[in-house]
Amino acid sequence: MPHPEERPRRLRTSPGMRRLVRETRLSVDSLVMPLFIREGENVREPIGSMPGLLRYSPDTCAEAVEKIVQAKIPAVLLFGLPGRKADDGSPAWDEKGAVPSAIREIKKRFPELVVITDVCLCAYTTHGHCGLVINDYIANDVSLNALALTALGHAKAGADVVAPSDMMDGRVKAIRDMLEKEKLDRTAIMSYAVKYASSYYGPFRDAAESAPSFGDRRTHQMDPANVREALREARLDVGEGADMLMVKPALAYLDVIRAVKENFDLPLAAYNVSGEYSMVKAAAEKGWIDEKAVVLETLTAMRRAGADILITYHALDVAGWLREE
Ligand code: PBG
Ligand code: ZN
Repeated sequence: MPHPEERPRRLRTSPGMRRLVRETRLSVDSLVMPLFIREGENVREPIGSMPGLLRYSPDTCAEAVEKIVQAKIPAVLLFGLPGRKADDGSPAWDEKGAVPSAIREIKKRFPELVVITDVCLCAYTTHGHCGLVINDYIANDVSLNALALTALGHAKAGADVVAPSDMMDGRVKAIRDMLEKEKLDRTAIMSYAVKYASSYYGPFRDAAESAPSFGDRRTHQMDPANVREALREARLDVGEGADMLMVKPALAYLDVIRAVKENFDLPLAAYNVSGEYSMVKAAAEKGWIDEKAVVLETLTAMRRAGADILITYHALDVAGWLREE
């Protein structure tokens, strides 16, 4: 019997050998933990659609943040739930709102933690759209000032990074111009540059109470069928002054992560979104999959595809698992 010329199995013979030749490593340094902050006090609300997660208020969020800091996770991403919604989205730039208040609270106690904020109007508008609605259309240019004011409010409260997720054309430039005008030149912009109109956001819209009351998000978010267009979106945002790019969702879009990584030199984030999280949780609760193994495999795949930063609701669990290894 002839023996094979090459035996790849030699490099898989033991855990030590496999560690030595591993091409992609997961580290706590890449992780960002999202948090939902509701206006008010004493809030600790389980989120039905996202098992294991709670909504906090500005006064209670430090409990969660303390665990995140202890786990050595470098950053959080904040989402706000306002006490009142308005047609013009104005609660989004209320300096006493949930997000600015939470930023001040977090920065007081944990100044070293990187605070990223989601900038969008959908949780703040009565109609639940990401921009202002005029004649039943999500109007682009009139939404830009509202988004820039929202980002400004977060930056003034102490956010390190503002992350516009609205997908209006020109919003990165509008935010950058506003920040420069107000001398906030150290605030970075992480652009949700490549954000698809995805059904994987379902659990999030329940968590953030941000579902649109009519229509959908397909006139501003991208068609899941497109990848060349992703490069165009990224190119525009780089030109407008983005410091970091994002692809969202992540798991069904690994090819897009790879394409953006190969074409741009900014740090690239992958957003492991709510639907991806909740599917794993549901299957794990049924005993059908091994949660830890599946999450580590999935996040490793996102890193392998080219993501530098992983935004994931599993972040705290992952930090614990990586410590055990
Ligand atoms: C707001 C926003 C959404 C997400 C992040 N920012 C929802 C949406 O666009 O409808 C989704 C995050 C997730 O599903 O985890 N525009
Ligand atoms: Zn939105």
